[in-house]
Amino acid sequence: MTKLGSGRGRVAVTGAAGSLARDIIPGLQASGHTVIGIDRFTPEETSGTEWFECSINDRAALARAFEGCDAVIHLAGIPLEADWDAIMTTNIDGTQAVLETAWKAGIQRVVLASSIHAAGYVEIPDDGVVPDDVTVRPNTFYGASKAALEALGRLYHDRHGMDMYCLRIASRFARPQGERMLSTWLSPNDAVRLFDACLTTQNGGFHTIWGVSANTRSYLSASGGEAIGYHPQDNAEDFAAELLEAGRRDPSLLASEWDEKYIGGVFCSPAPPRIDDH
Ligand SMILES: NC(=O)c1ccc[n+]([C@@H]2O[C@H](COP(=O)([O-])OP(=O)(O)OC[C@H]3O[C@@H](n4cnc5c(N)ncnc54)[C@H](O)[C@@H]3O)[C@@H](O)[C@H]2O)c1
Repeated sequence: MTKLGSGRGRVAVTGAAGSLARDIIPGLQASGHTVIGIDRFTPEETSGTEWFECSINDRAALARAFEGCDAVIHLAGIPLEADWDAIMTTNIDGTQAVLETAWKAGIQRVVLASSIHAAGYVEIPDDGVVPDDVTVRPNTFYGASKAALEALGRLYHDRHGMDMYCLRIASRFARPQGERMLSTWLSPNDAVRLFDACLTTQNGGFHTIWGVSANTRSYLSASGGEAIGYHPQDNAEDFAAELLEAGRRDPSLLASEWDEKYIGGVFCSPAPPRIDDH
C-alpha cells in the first residue's frame, strides 16, 4: 500500500473516455502519474494509457484493472439527470463496486467525482461563501446519487481508513458558458491542479472540496481546496465582459431565476438538463 503523499504512482481512472477525464489525463501524465484507463468503451485515442474496457458494475473486471494501482479517480457515471433505475445502477451501485474493489485491492486513496448538485438547493448567500461540507440538498436524482457517492466515501473512510477526496465539481468547461459560470466555472487546467493535489497531498482523511476556479464572483469556499494544496489559477472574470456583451444579444446566456437563487441553478427547476437531451 502506498503511503500518503508518496505521490506519483499508478492511478486507475474510471470513466476515462469521458470529457472530464480527457481534460485531466494528459496533465496528470505530464506531472508523472501513470494512468490506467477504465471505461465501457475504448476510444480511438487513449492518450498512451493502459486501457481496460469494462463496466464499473463488473467487479471481477474492475479488480483486474485495479491490480497494482496506488489510487483511484472515480469519474464514471451519468453526469446529468436521468431515470432512477439508470442512476441507481451506474452512479450508486457502480460507486459501491468501485469503493469495495479498491478496498479489497489495498488501495488507500480514492478521489470521487461528486457534484455541486449534491447540494444544489442550497441558496446563494447574500455575502460570504458556502462551506465545502455544507449539508447535502440534492436537486435531482443525479444530485441524490452524488450525495450517496459522498456517503459511501465516508463509510469506506470510517470503516477502512481509506483517504477519500469528494470533489463537488461545479461547472467544468473550456470557458464559462453563461453568467452563472462566472461564479461556478472550473477551468480544465485548474481541474488538473485539483486532481493532482488530491493524488499528492499529505493531508489524508475524508474531504469534501468545491471543484471551482479562482473566480472573483465565486460563492463557494476555497478552504477545502487550500487544505490539500489546491491553488486554482484561472478566473472566469477574464471572460465576463465578452460573455455579458453576448448576453445582450442572447438572453439565454444571462442568469435565470434559478441561477440567481440556488447554487445548483437550472438543475433546481422542474425541467433539469437530462442525459437523453444530449
Ligand atoms: N463535467 C462537469 O462539469 C461535472 C460537474 C460535476 C460532476 N461531474 C462528474 O464528473 C464525472 C465525469 O463527468 P463527464 O462530464 O466527463 O461525463 P462524461 O459523460 O463525458 O463521462 C462519463 C464517462 O463514464 C463512462 N461510463 C458511464 N457508465 C459507465 C459504466 N457503467 N462503466 C464504465 N464507464 C462508464 C462513460 O462511457 C463516459 O466515458 C461524472 O461522474 C460527473 O457526474 C462532472
